[in-house]
Amino acid sequence: MINENIHIRKARPGDIDAVFYIKQEQFSNPWKKQLFYDELDHDIAFFYVAEDTASKEIIGYIIFWIIRETLELHDIAVIEKYKKKGAGSRLLEFMLETARTRQVEEMFLEVRQSNTAAIAFYEKYHFKKIDMRKDYYTGPVEDAAVYALFLK
Ligand SMILES: CC(C)(COP(=O)(O)OP(=O)(O)OC[C@H]1O[C@@H](n2cnc3c(N)ncnc32)[C@H](O)[C@@H]1OP(=O)(O)O)[C@@H](O)C(=O)NCCC(=O)NCCS
Repeated sequence: MINENIHIRKARPGDIDAVFYIKQEQFSNPWKKQLFYDELDHDIAFFYVAEDTASKEIIGYIIFWIIRETLELHDIAVIEKYKKKGAGSRLLEFMLETARTRQVEEMFLEVRQSNTAAIAFYEKYHFKKIDMRKDYYTGPVEDAAVYALFLK
């Protein structure tokens, strides 16, 4: 897949089944489906999907919140068969661009410390580890690494 075939757009109710499928495929303890519907209506939430323009398939999604000058990345994932083809980068670059236009000053995220793919992904975009949270995750229990990117 080439980058031009990936379109980033706002998520709609009709996308939730596809998003939920990706969540179940990619995470050991996925959210309940209703939580995705809640994100669609949340004032501070930015819920976007990556769509394959040819097949119209939803191949990834991102959810982040902006509260004044602070952005929190809550969720990002790409469907297994489309990983390592640039969809995750497109979603993260959309987030970074949104952050700039909204005058965000700091961005935070948590990641399982064993998730080497995601850590390499965030570090490529200059996120830096600033903290650890002991036993932050369940199913399985694991520490979280807290990453941040400061724009000012
Ligand atoms: C993290 C994730 C969203 C990346 O999406 P992706 O579309 O595969 O990423 P891209 O193809 O845009 O890769 C961008 C960069 O990320 C890094 N990266 C991505 N996957 C990697 C892997 N398996 N191993 C090492 N580095 C990796 C590389 O630096 C890559 O740059 P390169 O192509 O120049 O080597 C994807 O792996 C995913 O969905 N993971 C499961 C869900 C998850 O863990 N989400 C994060 C929770 S905190």
